[in-house]
Amino acid sequence: MSVLRSGHTLILLLLLLGTSFGVPRSFSVDYQNNCFRKDGEMFRYISGSIHYSRIPRVYWKDRLLKMYLAGLNAIQTYIPWNYHEETPGQYNFSGDRDLEYFLQLAQDIGFPVILRPGPYICAEWDMGGLPAWLLNKKNIVLRSSDPDYVAAVDKWMGKILPMIKPFLYQNGGPIITVQVENEYGSYFACDYNYMRHLTKLFRSHLGDDVVLFTTDGAGLGYLKCGSIQGLYATVDFGPGANVTAAFNAQRHVEPQGPLVNSEFYTGWLDHWGSRHSVVSTAAVTKSLNQILFLGANVNLYMFIGGTNFGYWNGANEPYSPQPTSYDYDAPLSEAGDLTEKYFAIREVIKMYRKIPQGPIPPTTPKYSYGAVVMKKLETVSDALEKLSLSGAVKSVYPQTFLELNQVFGYVLYRTKLPVNCSKPTPLSSPLNGVHDRAYVSVDGVAAGILERNKALTMNVTGKAGSQLDVLVENMGRINYGRGINDFKGLVSNLTLGADVLTGWTMYSLSIDEAVSQGVLGKFTTPHPPQPATLAPPTFYQGSFIIPDGIPDLPQDTYIQLPQWNKGQVWINGFNLGRYWPSRGPQVTLFVPASILTTAVPNNITVLELEAAPCSSGPCTVEFTSTPVLNATVSSAYKQHWRLFSKDLS
Ligand SMILES: *[C@@H]1O[C@H](CO)[C@@H](O)[C@H](O)[C@H]1NC(C)=O
Ligand SMILES: *[C@@H]1O[C@H](CO)[C@@H](O)[C@H](O)[C@H]1NC(C)=O
Ligand SMILES: *[C@@H]1O[C@H](CO)[C@@H](O)[C@H](O)[C@H]1NC(C)=O
Ligand SMILES: *[C@@H]1O[C@H](CO)[C@@H](O)[C@H](O)[C@H]1NC(C)=O
Ligand SMILES: *[C@@H]1O[C@H](CO)[C@@H](O)[C@H](O)[C@H]1NC(C)=O
Ligand SMILES: *[C@@H]1O[C@H](CO)[C@@H](O)[C@H](O)[C@H]1NC(C)=O
Ligand SMILES: *[C@@H]1O[C@H](CO)[C@@H](O)[C@H](O)[C@H]1NC(C)=O
Repeated sequence: MSVLRSGHTLILLLLLLGTSFGVPRSFSVDYQNNCFRKDGEMFRYISGSIHYSRIPRVYWKDRLLKMYLAGLNAIQTYIPWNYHEETPGQYNFSGDRDLEYFLQLAQDIGFPVILRPGPYICAEWDMGGLPAWLLNKKNIVLRSSDPDYVAAVDKWMGKILPMIKPFLYQNGGPIITVQVENEYGSYFACDYNYMRHLTKLFRSHLGDDVVLFTTDGAGLGYLKCGSIQGLYATVDFGPGANVTAAFNAQRHVEPQGPLVNSEFYTGWLDHWGSRHSVVSTAAVTKSLNQILFLGANVNLYMFIGGTNFGYWNGANEPYSPQPTSYDYDAPLSEAGDLTEKYFAIREVIKMYRKIPQGPIPPTTPKYSYGAVVMKKLETVSDALEKLSLSGAVKSVYPQTFLELNQVFGYVLYRTKLPVNCSKPTPLSSPLNGVHDRAYVSVDGVAAGILERNKALTMNVTGKAGSQLDVLVENMGRINYGRGINDFKGLVSNLTLGADVLTGWTMYSLSIDEAVSQGVLGKFTTPHPPQPATLAPPTFYQGSFIIPDGIPDLPQDTYIQLPQWNKGQVWINGFNLGRYWPSRGPQVTLFVPASILTTAVPNNITVLELEAAPCSSGPCTVEFTSTPVLNATVSSAYKQHWRLFSKDLS
């Protein structure tokens, strides 16, 4: 210092000592007093989960502000690896994937951030956030010391951890704590060397000052494999749990230090074919009050769930995919609406800390744009040349999506009937290898559907040499449990009668590219008559104009497809996700205003996989101002949702 002149010395001192007059920024665990310390002061967080990957960037600020005005004093988010590295070595951190911008916004609003960078995150997200290309090594043991897995993790963490390092609290940023792995104690591998390796890796990139932690179910069975020396162990549990008993479990591995529930469930997840999950506000506030009364730290999971746009939803076992909406019955709805639960939670928080006065940003208005007539375009089979940019691949036996270099969406498998099937002949997947749903046609006539775990056989008829088309849909990779090595496509042989089908021609389909480039053509080639309730997978298109005379348009809306069955829907090339009203419980899809325009007509593209309701008159889709996520589910497909519940008893 002595070599510097005094004026410079003062500025340098201020820079060195941080902003709060002499106290350097710090965040730590105080074991003696069972609390966190922020800049030396006791700190208890009341946090909420928000996944930037499930909310359009333009709405991040609105959602964060609403969280701030609920009285939260921290937020928690996951980093989904597969969202940022879809192809090995090609990273995307722009637009809706701009993690640094999200962290900056949180800081600007005044939020400390609890960061959960994985590598595995679960989160009801495709493959729990792990990139599917890890499965290029077929027998890889994910979430373990498997050298190929570890090498990929090292590379990814070598990218992401240096990126977040400037955002650590002690470096002037918002990140107060960083989670390592996610509920590792629930995973069969129980590989301590893997967890030790991650600990070292995180430390080497982030330094010794940052608080690293783990999260596990609040039971000794989970904590046994999930907690490890050097990482602060926290637990998660919902309103059904005995709060005292749950924190006793944490105390078993952390006799001293702050009590932390890292996932306090405000609602619960959904699955296609199961009834919509709701958790009562009364149960949430009662339990939250108990947690706060104990002086514990808590993160409300979710505070806003958001949307699984595109193909990002995950699935549970036995195979059961999650719907497009990740509303979660959270205090802020999928669309960021203020709910009764929001205000009730705010009242509870008010009893424990001084909360900002407001005004709370209002619920964003929704607009009913009404019905839009949809015209039939080509079928997938008709449009093959335009959809399959990489062209046909031939092999004796079917290949998986990965072997065909396809990650999401759809692959068409084509072969010929080897024999005359004048009588109904079973087409089967004896090893349950249709991952996940196959739309089958013979010579352009829809013949039936095969579905993983649910429909392993169907009948076909047709002459020898007839063209057999099997369009296979990836409905989302398993995100939890043993089954996360979830290969897609035809992962085992199909049989016709007693014979294994051979001689396949396979087409990887780039449907999203074709839709956004507007290359799909009109329906021209006449098709043979179809059965009453089924048609080959077909595209439909419609457009609508948003009146420019009405102020504040475009506004958010919901799209619903009454009488349609199952498929995928895009607006102006943006993939909104899957619809499946015939199975439920989700009926409407959230349409953020940010993808709409008043300048030109807005284009809707639908890929209907089963049958569109156009046999009697024009078929329409409808824009409404109210969501429906809880339609009655047909009993044939009812599942036991409690299978997936950790601790909502
Ligand atoms: C990166 O992600 C953004 C947001 O999803 C997307 O708009 C953009 O096209 C992606 N960039 C590339 C090169 O894939
Ligand atoms: C909750 O757990 C504690 C500690 O195990 C126990 O003493 C108490 O009786 C339990 N309360 C209820 C309502 O079960
Ligand atoms: C299928 O049946 C036709 C007569 O309908 C016959 O000509 C043909 O040889 C048969 N093909 C096979 C492979 O059995
Ligand atoms: C296939 O056809 C046979 C004979 O007509 C019938 O008994 C069987 O139920 C059918 N199977 C399916 C899955 O429709
Ligand atoms: C398909 O059947 C052939 C012949 O039985 C076998 O060699 C091959 O491994 C099977 N493929 C799969 C993916 O099961
Ligand atoms: C919708 O498609 C029409 C015709 O291709 C095009 O003129 C228009 O710009 C498209 N609208 C948007 C928002 O991309
Ligand atoms: C669905 O939710 C709405 C709004 O919360 C409610 O009015 C309706 O009764 C629910 N319907 C079913 C079938 O649960």
